[in-house]
Amino acid sequence: MCGIIGYIGGKQAAPVLIDGLKRMEYRGYDSAGIALINDDGKVDLRKRKGRVSVMASEIEADRFPAHMGIGHTRWATHGGVTDANAHPHTSSCGRFIMVHNGIIENYENMRSFLAGKGYTFSSETDSEALVNLISYHYDERTVDGAADRFMESVRKALLHVEGTYGIAVISPLYPNEIIVARKGSPLLIGIGNGERLVASDVSGFAGRAQNVIYLEDGQLACVKKDFCDIITNGKQEVECVIKEIDWELETAELGSYRHFMQKEIFEQRKAIENAIRGRISDDMSTAILSGLNMSANELRQIDRILFCACGTAWHACLVAEYLIEKYARIPVEVEYASEFRYSNPPLDKNTLVFVISQSGETIDTLEALREAKRKGFKTLAITNVVGSTIARESDGGLYQYSGKEVGVASTKAFTSQIVICLLIALYFGRMRDLSFSDGREIVEAIKSLPDLIDETLKQAPKVEQIAKKYAKYPDFLFLGRLEEYPIALEGALKLKEISYIHAEGYPAAEMKHGPIALVCPECPTVIFANSGEIFHKVISNAKEIGARNGPVIMITDSPESIDEGLADDIIAIPKSHSSVRTVLSTIPIQMLAYYIAVARGCDVDKPRNLAKSVTVE
Ligand code: AGP
Ligand code: GLU
Repeated sequence: MCGIIGYIGGKQAAPVLIDGLKRMEYRGYDSAGIALINDDGKVDLRKRKGRVSVMASEIEADRFPAHMGIGHTRWATHGGVTDANAHPHTSSCGRFIMVHNGIIENYENMRSFLAGKGYTFSSETDSEALVNLISYHYDERTVDGAADRFMESVRKALLHVEGTYGIAVISPLYPNEIIVARKGSPLLIGIGNGERLVASDVSGFAGRAQNVIYLEDGQLACVKKDFCDIITNGKQEVECVIKEIDWELETAELGSYRHFMQKEIFEQRKAIENAIRGRISDDMSTAILSGLNMSANELRQIDRILFCACGTAWHACLVAEYLIEKYARIPVEVEYASEFRYSNPPLDKNTLVFVISQSGETIDTLEALREAKRKGFKTLAITNVVGSTIARESDGGLYQYSGKEVGVASTKAFTSQIVICLLIALYFGRMRDLSFSDGREIVEAIKSLPDLIDETLKQAPKVEQIAKKYAKYPDFLFLGRLEEYPIALEGALKLKEISYIHAEGYPAAEMKHGPIALVCPECPTVIFANSGEIFHKVISNAKEIGARNGPVIMITDSPESIDEGLADDIIAIPKSHSSVRTVLSTIPIQMLAYYIAVARGCDVDKPRNLAKSVTVE
């Protein structure tokens, strides 16, 4: 949620800030703004509701020669989407300017305290209370000493905050520094040559920094053009840990594709190849998962596994449950991360906790991880973003290496999470009762996936035709059984997210217990009917829909076994081993959602109200 950017150095700051904001726009895109401090101390501030390009179009770069400034792209939590609520926010005295990501939960108390002291407000945001509280601590000289009075005022103000924040603060009184701090929302410091950047995400640096410092929760930094000082909010000095940025992992260009989502759907072969590279042992018919940082002996003690995640990653957890219980025979539970944190479920002592998060920054998932750690459980993470907070705070885990995912709707990251969960099921299974030959079959199935993905992607023109036919329908049902039930949920989520069509996913047989009331000629049902023991049961469910004049779109690996007239439209996927089939079933529902959204003229990569990285509760 929201992108923060900051620059201080020898270059003109405005174009650097705008470029950084454009690259981080997927984090939030309802309004944007920048504030610059010129060498003579004069402040320039521009903020507008709408996309970064709206705000940027009002800025003629040559009129803004400043060499330092901050910027923000907002995902509103408190106060509507208006110019006044857009960041940066300025203290009522005009001397402190701040961008904020997160939620100040006690902002109402802060506001009334400050109003009593004569401070005034021009927005409805929670953030504006904090920048005024900084001003209050500065004005009231609640801080000792003059040298670091700016940073100390920020530190003192933050001690009163309940909630979460990533902030960057500047002041015309201190034109050579940016103060940044974090608690719950990511904040990175990029190190360039005689210049420093700050951002919520490495992509905001736009290749301008070679190295990065990840600020940890409870830390503040004073960033100057050639160095930075980091302290804790308890005023302890912190040693800077500098990491190199791998720009190859961070780069994503649209190339010849129309949308990032389309590109990312078509990148799934590569994403899966990356996920499995070096992680398969042909000799032992198992997986090699050294990232788990646990010995075979420790892993054998595990009686139960708990998976936590949100959204699409939560659907990957449901597939993991099916795969691990089937192949490793270890009981698995899946919780929404946001619920786990507060529901306090009883956990056996030999429980292993996994979290899955593409971004590695989702606050609900991060807090679930912290809660499990606090209780003393071993925590492992599956994440796509190297160096993300979840990756740093877990005891071990597996990177997805899917390549940067820009489209707000997750696609290649999801299928890659499924494959990693299958590797885990194989690994744990082979430590227990899964035989060498059963393991061998799974290994072969995983190795065959890249080619099968290519074959499935060839259905794109057909799916596009089907999408055009149904693009105007108001409701959709998605039905699947066993491991395809989570894919039905994912199909409904994808469609909702990017086309704004109401859709629901159900286990196919459960349809009879209520959702069947929705079936009518205006409500198409997407149903997965793949070969196996329940093929005929699903076929019966499809007949029940057809009998009620509901259009049926069938995704199947056995089109030859589907009677004429049973389905209105068929999308064929290649035959495969059941362990990998969910990956192939997912691709048509991603394509269907994508082409329907395009046909409806929706903004596919930046759907309304959503943001790629959800860093507020
Ligand atoms: C996916 O299409 C969604 N935009 C959303 O559900 C997402 O999967 C969820 O917010 C979790 O994100 P994460 O994987 O980065 O933690
Ligand atoms: N809570 C702040 C607001 O609503 C910040 C939101 C954000 O993270 O973009 O303005």
